[in-house]
Amino acid sequence: MIQIAILGLGTVGTGVAKVVAENARQIERKLGEPLQVKAILVRRFKDGPYRQLMTDDFRRIEEDEDIRVVVETIGGVEAAYEYTKRALNAGKHVVTANKQLVAEKGCELLALAQRKNVSYLFEASVGGGIPVLHPLTQCMAANRIDEVYGILNGTTNYILTRMVRTGAFFSDALREAQAKGYAEADPTADVEGIDAGRKICILADLAFGRQIEPETVPMEGISKLSLRDVKIAQRAGYRIKLLGRAVRLPGGGRTAYVAPHFIPGENPIASVEDVFNAVVIRGNATGDVMFYGKGAGELPTASACVADVMECLQQSPRREEIGWSPESEGFEDPSRLETRHYFRIEGSLTDAAMAFGQVEVLSEDGETAFLTEPLSGQDAVRQSRQLNVLACMRVLD
Ligand code: HSE
Repeated sequence: MIQIAILGLGTVGTGVAKVVAENARQIERKLGEPLQVKAILVRRFKDGPYRQLMTDDFRRIEEDEDIRVVVETIGGVEAAYEYTKRALNAGKHVVTANKQLVAEKGCELLALAQRKNVSYLFEASVGGGIPVLHPLTQCMAANRIDEVYGILNGTTNYILTRMVRTGAFFSDALREAQAKGYAEADPTADVEGIDAGRKICILADLAFGRQIEPETVPMEGISKLSLRDVKIAQRAGYRIKLLGRAVRLPGGGRTAYVAPHFIPGENPIASVEDVFNAVVIRGNATGDVMFYGKGAGELPTASACVADVMECLQQSPRREEIGWSPESEGFEDPSRLETRHYFRIEGSLTDAAMAFGQVEVLSEDGETAFLTEPLSGQDAVRQSRQLNVLACMRVLD
């Protein structure tokens, strides 16, 4: 019998307990022994199926030599960081879905795990149930990764889909996403692009091999997005999606950011809807490889956590190839990147043409919506200074 502990019993923690129980036969067949949850750390005891496993004392888990893997599903940094360090120091493998902790402290925790000869795995931290970090670090290991981009937040994609399909109000669509267990405890992290930002940092850390500090990454969400731009995009054959993007720059630098984008309808990512996420990884040998699936929710996320638990046990003592350097030099502002830009201005086509030269008009009715030729973010800001700008977004070309 292999025993594990879960820290936290929210959406993901509950999902982990369910997957371990419901898929017990498949898991045992693959591990050669049954897997059992021995303890669950909670702040408050609750009645229910896991009542007998609950403890509010982390030492009971830390000091229990039968517990070989700790699944951290608390979220946030403070307590999760403390318990993760203590569990690793106690010689236990740790698995997590906690993207904030991995984005901010992952490099340090991986180094600690290495010193203790155990694993720290976090497949569930990006893309929920979609395998993406393993393919990036293992199957695509022979590539130089030039770019990673994707729809990395299920809540905002769900909200955008509901707004487009049914004209739902932003607040109603957000409430639905919360009821389905997709949103963060504080949904500001979803709607302001911070959750997607943490995930693009993790992808970029692994893709480029150097730490990206989340506080240096510009993150813009969908809270200021107008339904008018959503409709203009649709009529012109585009979709608006919140993308996280990380790019290797010529000369060795790298950049990353999160922002809503105009996506041409023919790009497969344009038709990714509801809670689904999609991640595109561009390798210099593979070209674009796309990963697609449910990016949030109890069972998809738990499935990735339990698979990591199984990997820790099968690969014991530890998996070697995951990690990155703590050096963060070489990060550059994304405003250097050149793309076409979408603008909606209070003004005429003449105003648009005077600022940008040749443009492609999408709508003209008192306001003018148009696409520019490719230009950097800096130039987009500089050239639009004299205009009354109502909306501006990059196009994913
Ligand atoms: N709040 C996150 C999302 C959960 O909506 O994608 C999964 O990380």
